[in-house]
Amino acid sequence: MATIVGGIGTTHVPSIGKAIAEKKQNDPYWRPFFKGFDYVHYWLARAKPDIAVVFYNDHGLNFFLDKLPTFAVGAAAEYHSEDEGWGIPVSRPIPGDPALSWHLINALVADEFDVTTCQEMLIDHALTIPMALMWPSAASVATPWPVKIVPIEINTVQHPLPTLSRCLKLGRSVGRAIEAYAQDLRVVVVGTGGLSHQLDGTRAGFVNKEFDKLCLDKIVAEPEALTGYSIHDWVKESGSQGVEFLNWMAMRGALTGHVSELSRNYHIPISNTAAATVVYDNQAERGRKAA
Ligand code: DHB
Ligand code: FE
Repeated sequence: MATIVGGIGTTHVPSIGKAIAEKKQNDPYWRPFFKGFDYVHYWLARAKPDIAVVFYNDHGLNFFLDKLPTFAVGAAAEYHSEDEGWGIPVSRPIPGDPALSWHLINALVADEFDVTTCQEMLIDHALTIPMALMWPSAASVATPWPVKIVPIEINTVQHPLPTLSRCLKLGRSVGRAIEAYAQDLRVVVVGTGGLSHQLDGTRAGFVNKEFDKLCLDKIVAEPEALTGYSIHDWVKESGSQGVEFLNWMAMRGALTGHVSELSRNYHIPISNTAAATVVYDNQAERGRKAA
């Protein structure tokens, strides 16, 4: 059976791609952020996932405001990216796992999540930047990607957005489906974006350190405590793009076992964003016994 080895949460700011291309990881501005990935690399080398199921939000590359699904699941054999205009290198294509994708899609629809299925899907910086951060050597042409991906898109761009509770439940449905998958795969679940940031309007540049700390504290052991916030409240507390935390809630929901925080790095700012990187352990057996 497939095993969920853990979860990773990471910011997906595009300028990270420029820093990587220009090898600025040790520059004073970038070092506090990139240092947070030392533990991620250490952990991934031991956890050895075969698959990354990635909750992320598309910013207008694959979906635009005219047609924007609340939830969409990729079912492609390979995912390509394109130039989004940020002046960063375009990611190499990343392999998919259509059989696992269709298994997740079937399970989600059976659980009454009426997702959009995408047999072609362009992946934007919200997926490619985290991939380059997690597997830096594979992001260059030198080595193949060590994982296949299943991208799951959540609308954080055009209101109405799904609630925090809905995204937590989406993640739980995905987590149950992964654990019911017959193949012996090791799966890491990833949530991208956040934490607090606002790119537009009179509050552009807004971040909220106290609220981010509350989120990082609560999401580990009591994610339900965060579901009392409406999306309107979330925008107020976390900024208009802080709602990307919905991807983190889905990631957390997919961790079905006993969850503990293995590492946390929080740094302000990266571009306009309060940047956070976390690794969560998922003890499947312990979680089952406790249930
Ligand atoms: C920035 C943050 C984002 O989440 C994004 O999608 C684009 C830009 C930023 O802080 O620059
Ligand atoms: Fe974003």
